Amino acid sequence: MKGTGEKELIARATAAREMAYAPYSVFRVGAALRAESGKIYEGCNVENASYGATICAERVAAVKAVAAGERRFLALAVVAEGPPLVPPCGIGRQFLTEFGPDLEVYLADLEGHIERTDLAALFPAAFTRQSLSAKKARGEEGFSGRDG
Ligand code: THU
Repeated sequence: MKGTGEKELIARATAAREMAYAPYSVFRVGAALRAESGKIYEGCNVENASYGATICAERVAAVKAVAAGERRFLALAVVAEGPPLVPPCGIGRQFLTEFGPDLEVYLADLEGHIERTDLAALFPAAFTRQSLSAKKARGEEGFSGRDG
């Protein structure tokens, strides 16, 4: 599946964008995340009157996928109105890195412009579970070292 299926992924993210709840920014974003299982999970941004409670499209897609039992992902598409193409926000990059930096990322707009990158390039030197102390990684001090 690597390097393939991006057209479908972008189409799904474009459709998901239509569901965005963005009355404050009026900036609608759609995301689609392809899991290793082959299934695609969509997300859109969901804003809140308490602005900081807003959740980005990428995290919505990721939490839906994880809640459905997925843990490994192949590719992500992010669609917004450009130009410029919209990359995943910082918190989205951190959130997705939890499940592996080896993720293809496609940035697309509504006019068919597409850029391919990957999460490792977008988010180098990430803080990860390996950043936690070896002691914690062994299962001490409340860190299970397992998949949660
Ligand atoms: N937004 C996303 O959903 N994903 C991104 O990667 C960039 C920003 C949303 C959050 C907020 O609802 C709006 O775009 C403006 O920041």
